[in-house]
Amino acid sequence: MASCVIPVPPFDMILFGATGDLAHRKIFPGLFHRFLVGQMPPEGRIIGAARSEFSAEQFRATLRKSLLEFAPSATKNKAKLDAFLALVEYVSVDAKGPRGWDKLADLMRPDVVRAFYLSVGPSLFAPIAEQLRMAKLTTPDARIVVEKPFGHDLASARALNAELGRCFGEDQIYRIDHYLGKETVQNVMALRFANALFEPLWNSQHIDHVQITVAEKLGVNGRGEYYDRSGAMRDMVQNHLMQLLCLTAMEPPSRFEPNAVRDEKLKVIRSLDPVQPGDFARGQYRGDGDQGSYTEHAKNPDSTTESFIAMKVEVSNWRWAGTPFYLRTGKRLRAHLSEIAIVFRDPPHSIFPDGEGRRSNALIIRLQPNEGITLRMTIKEPGPGGMRLTDVPLDMTFAEALGQNAESADAYERLVMDVLRGDQTLFMRGDEVEAAWEWADPIIKSWEDTGQKPALYDTGSSGPEDSLMLMHRDGRRWREIGS
Ligand code: BG6
Repeated sequence: MASCVIPVPPFDMILFGATGDLAHRKIFPGLFHRFLVGQMPPEGRIIGAARSEFSAEQFRATLRKSLLEFAPSATKNKAKLDAFLALVEYVSVDAKGPRGWDKLADLMRPDVVRAFYLSVGPSLFAPIAEQLRMAKLTTPDARIVVEKPFGHDLASARALNAELGRCFGEDQIYRIDHYLGKETVQNVMALRFANALFEPLWNSQHIDHVQITVAEKLGVNGRGEYYDRSGAMRDMVQNHLMQLLCLTAMEPPSRFEPNAVRDEKLKVIRSLDPVQPGDFARGQYRGDGDQGSYTEHAKNPDSTTESFIAMKVEVSNWRWAGTPFYLRTGKRLRAHLSEIAIVFRDPPHSIFPDGEGRRSNALIIRLQPNEGITLRMTIKEPGPGGMRLTDVPLDMTFAEALGQNAESADAYERLVMDVLRGDQTLFMRGDEVEAAWEWADPIIKSWEDTGQKPALYDTGSSGPEDSLMLMHRDGRRWREIGS
């Protein structure tokens, strides 16, 4: 049963950082796709804003080139591409000075939704918000969108929240975590709350542990300097993995409505125990032949920043006490794979002779690639010769199950449309971000204080030995990262 798509109202979207990489690779292509499928109203306008002095014509020419490169459908739809480009304006502004703001104000229309998308470094979030306030552009229907990183720690996140809060209400601030825009991540909520099957089992009585893995094959090439100040903990765990943990662990919200969902996620973060020093493993990738090492990519031979982290996290509440969540993420690993694995407890008593073949039941939600869901079950191995058990997958990929409809929009497409519709469900609230930093800060501090060096691991491996030990110690094992 298809449900109707909520219409997008007429809007002016002002994209700061319009000449940047994210804008050209993700945001403009995302908008173009929505335009192609008819989800952008004819009254939609996009105003690119950046420091560079371009005319609107010049900017459109650059944008045409990048759309032909990053939006494959643009090559087949040249007439649509022209129509889309006709909706784009450009203004050169100085985020920290007076240049360009009057012109921007002149380009903007009254009576349409205003979305200020800040695809710029975090040091410019507050200055731009302030300029918008001074130029009286922060009308009640205006909204501001900010990218991660949202702060570097609790203190900086609080300061940023306060600075944005002087210019915009919380209901106007959209903090992006692009993981929340991924189709399968939202499917965690559909799976849990639109089916009655799993909920009775979704607790520590039936679930032994949960594994959340976000593994990447690529290294930090090209982003080494940024990454070296962040590391996997700040870059991935405090935000993306934390969001996955929240969606897996949260109580059912009373409605699928922004604050109801975010209230429940916040409760999860606030239930997290401090992570003990023995409960994490940090790693840094070695170089191999033609591929450089982490320290080479970071241009910092003495770097103690982690490109891999695994940790055991306890959610101290009634539902989860006794069921650890193991999180793991890293660069330059064996495969590109993100998944949530719910591993169930074994039957209380086995009537079958102990045999190989039986493994714990597990529900695996594959976020990427090959998005889908697998339920690992034990069955009888066919044939005579006694009751031998074997482990089989009940496997569903979205592409097979849904055919064309499974073609999922890029996370940014969905999130940008949600901003324009005014739906904050998939965006982080200020208190959520602060609570995540409050949890992460002492962990980071514990290794910064001791100057602890991460263990080295091989490119193409599953991370350092310590990560395996973290599981073995508890009598458990990680699922394989790729085959
Ligand atoms: C970003 C991180 O937020 O997410 C990157 O800064 C990481 O380091 C990326 O590579 C992963 O996103 P995805 O969508 O490719 O899984």
